Amino acid sequence: HSTGSTRSSIRFMLCVAGCVPVSWSWLRIPGVLQRLGFTYFVLSLLQTFWGQKEIPLKMVSSSDVVLYWPQWLIIILLETLWLCITFLMPVPNCPTGYLGAGGIGDNGLHPNCTGGAAGYIDRWMFGDNMYRYPTCKDMYHTTQPFDPEGVLGTINSVVMGFLGMQVGGSIISCMFSESITGISAAILSKCTRDGGFIPVNKNLWSLSYVTCMGCFSFLLLGAMYFVIDIKGWWGGQPFIYPGMNSTFVYVGHSLLGFYFPFSWEMAFQASHWEWLFQSLWGTSLWVLISYFLYRKKFFLKI
Ligand SMILES: *[C@@H]1O[C@H](CO)[C@@H](O)[C@H](O)[C@H]1NC(C)=O
Repeated sequence: HSTGSTRSSIRFMLCVAGCVPVSWSWLRIPGVLQRLGFTYFVLSLLQTFWGQKEIPLKMVSSSDVVLYWPQWLIIILLETLWLCITFLMPVPNCPTGYLGAGGIGDNGLHPNCTGGAAGYIDRWMFGDNMYRYPTCKDMYHTTQPFDPEGVLGTINSVVMGFLGMQVGGSIISCMFSESITGISAAILSKCTRDGGFIPVNKNLWSLSYVTCMGCFSFLLLGAMYFVIDIKGWWGGQPFIYPGMNSTFVYVGHSLLGFYFPFSWEMAFQASHWEWLFQSLWGTSLWVLISYFLYRKKFFLKI
């Protein structure tokens, strides 16, 4: 019995790490929680060594860049590194600076170039320990493994988290950052859905994705700050319940999301409404579960 439970707990860990409950040699090394953990680690180092020791009650924060110049310098260097590797690193048999999906994309000219430099670095570092079911697989018929939480994109996760950290300091910088990130995203993507200098791409965590998501997040934060904190019109329910147990809900969904009652074999696969209904149903269940956990004062923290 004890061997059985050890085995199932190992399988549980493998499944949390990458949902490939087969063997260690196929274990996916990067992942969402790994990415989050590493990003927060880097940001906490930046804040520990170059952050402000006391937090003054300041209103205007245009001096933030001056005040935290070593942090900004490191972030600018990191972003330069991402840009150089992404656009200048030669990848064998692929065009330099390729950002596409490979497969049948780009008229099938570069079938094995999925993810350009980002994909190449991960395949070189992790070999077989790679994520095999990227979202581009179905649409572009790609054959190469590609990890949406790969190594190169982690740089931009740090940059994104850093922007959030600045905005966490003062609400004035939120409005300022909103415009800067919004304008950057518009220029980088030339306001197109999948084109421009740097296309908005979540799988690559591209710079335009970072600025685009940053802009919308800061807009939402500013609006919520006004509605909830300043005016007191709303307390944020029901979203505060899953928000206070986000790791629990995330892991819970990763483990149980494909089982009843969260999902079922769909009768109308081709239409969108049953997919939509299933997603809303699953989300509502997790909101309900997190509400009960909130009532029981249970909060999972890592
Ligand atoms: C792509 O890789 C496959 C093996 O994974 C190989 O058979 C094929 O020839 C490669 N195609 C190109 C264009 O390099």
